[in-house]
Amino acid sequence: MKIIHSMGSVRQTVLGWRRAERRVGLVPTMGALHEGHASLIRRARRENDEVVVSIFVNPVQFGPGEDFSRYPRPFVRDAALCRREGVSVLFAPKPSALYSTDHQTWVTVEKLAGPLCGPFRPGHFRGVATVVLKLFNMVQPDRAYFGKKDFQQLRVIEQMVNDLNVPVKIVPCPTVRDPSGLALSSRNAYLSPDERAAAPRLRRALRTAGQVLKSRRNVREAQRAARNELRQVPGARIQYLEILDPKTLSVPKKTGPFLLAAAVYVGRTRLIDNLLVRGAL
Ligand code: PAJ
Repeated sequence: MKIIHSMGSVRQTVLGWRRAERRVGLVPTMGALHEGHASLIRRARRENDEVVVSIFVNPVQFGPGEDFSRYPRPFVRDAALCRREGVSVLFAPKPSALYSTDHQTWVTVEKLAGPLCGPFRPGHFRGVATVVLKLFNMVQPDRAYFGKKDFQQLRVIEQMVNDLNVPVKIVPCPTVRDPSGLALSSRNAYLSPDERAAAPRLRRALRTAGQVLKSRRNVREAQRAARNELRQVPGARIQYLEILDPKTLSVPKKTGPFLLAAAVYVGRTRLIDNLLVRGAL
């Protein structure tokens, strides 16, 4: 495995592969890699000849009070995981290589960035879409892999790729969970033991909402049931809990499908999760 820090060098390497008609998969990450990331890498390995993993803690997708400076950066461990998983190139650019002091071009996906995390993280999806398009331009992969855990992010990127005719196939990947049902996340490392014990109740509340939605056929009742369940969790604070159309992220159709999505603070740590429910009401 090669570790590359410069854009020129990653371009050269990928150009060589493309000349040899080798298919290239890209897995964009911010590092602190876990089994969720590993599952994306394995899928990319199966479907491509070469796999590039990028690790870049993207400053422009973090808001002023957010965790940019304390975001975990265990680079040596991450590199070992990539090596073990058969990654061809680990691309780890420096912030100064991605953003000049004169940077002024941004990608804004207007409607999809609006709901769910949108109001609570202004500028977040603009930062994500911009860095992902930059990574696509630098690496020029055939396919790129994204987790459904960050469902709104996935939709924003799919929309961007369609709207701007970006020649990359987006591959959505299932959420990897630990045995308690908690979705794996680099931010789980922030949780104290008590918070860690409470965190799986986010997923359980979403499942309750899913059951109520199916049995009572009523979106508001389903939302209420999940909110009530989460209110019982010590140290938890709901930021949002919504039931939306997974394609448009707006009011769902009676015929479904339904995206049940929530963001919850457990102590000072913000966790997100979602559940897809198919079928009509
Ligand atoms: P990061 O949080 O490191 O996640 C990188 C990719 O791994 C994303 O596509 C995310 O959805 C996926 N992922 C995270 N946890 C997962 C889990 N438990 N199961 C399956 N997939 C999971 O998301 C980002 O980085 C950044 O916003 C990025 C897209 C790299 C742009 O900076």
